[in-house]
Amino acid sequence: MAGYRLTVVLNAAETPGFLPDLDYERLKALVILRTGHHYYQDKDDLLWERLRRRWRSLGLPGAAGYLALLGDPLRGEAEWSVLEAEITIGETFFFRYAEQFVALRDHILPNLIARAQATRRLRFWSAGCANGAEPYSLAILLREKLGDTLPDWRIHLIGTDINEAVLETARRAEFGHWALRTLTAEELARDFTPGREGRWALRPQHRGQVRFTRHNLLSLLDGTSPLQFNEFDLILCRNVLIYFHPDMVQRVVRALCDRLTPGGWLLLGHAEPNPTFQTFMEVVQLPGTVAYRRPMEPLPLAAATAVPWQPGLPPPASSTWPLPPPPSPSAAAPRPAVARRPPPTPPRVAAPSPGVREAVRVLANRGDLGGARQACQQGLQNNPVDAGLHFYAAMVARALGEAAAAEQAFRRALYLDGGFVMAHYQLGLLLLDQGQREAGRRALANASRIAQHLPDRSALEEGDGMTAKELRDSVRLQLETIATPPVRS
Ligand SMILES: C[S@@+](CC[C@H](N)C(=O)[O-])C[C@H]1O[C@@H](n2cnc3c(N)ncnc32)[C@H](O)[C@@H]1O
Repeated sequence: MAGYRLTVVLNAAETPGFLPDLDYERLKALVILRTGHHYYQDKDDLLWERLRRRWRSLGLPGAAGYLALLGDPLRGEAEWSVLEAEITIGETFFFRYAEQFVALRDHILPNLIARAQATRRLRFWSAGCANGAEPYSLAILLREKLGDTLPDWRIHLIGTDINEAVLETARRAEFGHWALRTLTAEELARDFTPGREGRWALRPQHRGQVRFTRHNLLSLLDGTSPLQFNEFDLILCRNVLIYFHPDMVQRVVRALCDRLTPGGWLLLGHAEPNPTFQTFMEVVQLPGTVAYRRPMEPLPLAAATAVPWQPGLPPPASSTWPLPPPPSPSAAAPRPAVARRPPPTPPRVAAPSPGVREAVRVLANRGDLGGARQACQQGLQNNPVDAGLHFYAAMVARALGEAAAAEQAFRRALYLDGGFVMAHYQLGLLLLDQGQREAGRRALANASRIAQHLPDRSALEEGDGMTAKELRDSVRLQLETIATPPVRS
């Protein structure tokens, strides 16, 4: 705590008008938690300016009022959208990193086109696409590669970003010279037409190739990312993760890898590759750049669970413990409301509590659900970051018919351990029981996707002997049953 106070004092000296208080610290923690922008951890001056600009323009007196607005169930989401536009950095241009586009043209796209000859279907995702220059560059390249055969292909090319304002620009597809600076006059004339005020409009055949939608990469980690963000042949996620904490980068890259088809490709920005990625992806050295591929089979040493995130943020001013309600379960609201986010820094207790888990299991098996609940609560007081105990708390709540409490406890378990297969699975079953089909499907699909990385016969943690293969089979069955509801007589 002393160190954290010191940071505040130093920044205060550097930034005139900087009035740090616990509400500001809480705001900062929320911003980092929601956007992943750990970059702001030691940039109080910059963040303070940006936040202050927002609350001043709204006529609010300071951080406390702004915090309340962001947490407001009715107005909070809209303000988050404006704030995210304010604090993200959207620099981009066409054919950025020429070496990567050469690698795409000469190596990656020919590989993908050759292997998709039978289906003639290809799926591409530009994650963190800013004003669209990146996915549009890919669209131009694809047309060049496929030529007259393009109409025979089903090409899905999606651009996503957390910042709705840049997506609006992307949809308009009009660019100034700065974004087009790498294009020759010939290329400009071929792919663009002169637009208003010295701008250039991308030709409709390229523009029509790309669909844009808002998406926060962090939603890949808490199970709220839409199901259709899956089975990509190529993902570009360049110059987005540079702002994230290294542990968070690892988790997001692993999640992106899971969204690829086996053999699918991932391109990161030049500064972003990390030797640890090769524990779960193949590294392919191409002239001037490095690319990653999802292996056809999981790599032998790949750990199946997500890397825990311990970002080391200061706790919010009024955080309560155990965790406050977890992220919103709603399928319709991909990004959880502020007030429902867990605090950023759970107290660090490294080891799980196997003895307590066992005690809970024994009591529950005896039918003493009250005793099991009490044991869970006590265990969580000592070790609030034991994902397994949150899982048991959820199972007990479910057995007691408390669906909402069970759902929250499953989500806490998943917040602490995104790779907890049984928590995804049980959450899925619970949601289906509650009639939440889409969210239930998503949770089951998450469980199955993680279990794909495990050997068929490995027993799942807290799975009462259930193996990875049994879980995958069970999920398949559940999903088929949902897809074909029984015919009524
Ligand atoms: C520097 S631009 C990179 C644009 C493009 N990929 C490129 O390399 O030229 C980074 C983009 O990532 C987006 N971004 C930042 N955090 C994000 C998040 N958590 N989820 C999705 N997009 C995010 C920003 O809004 C910004 O538009």
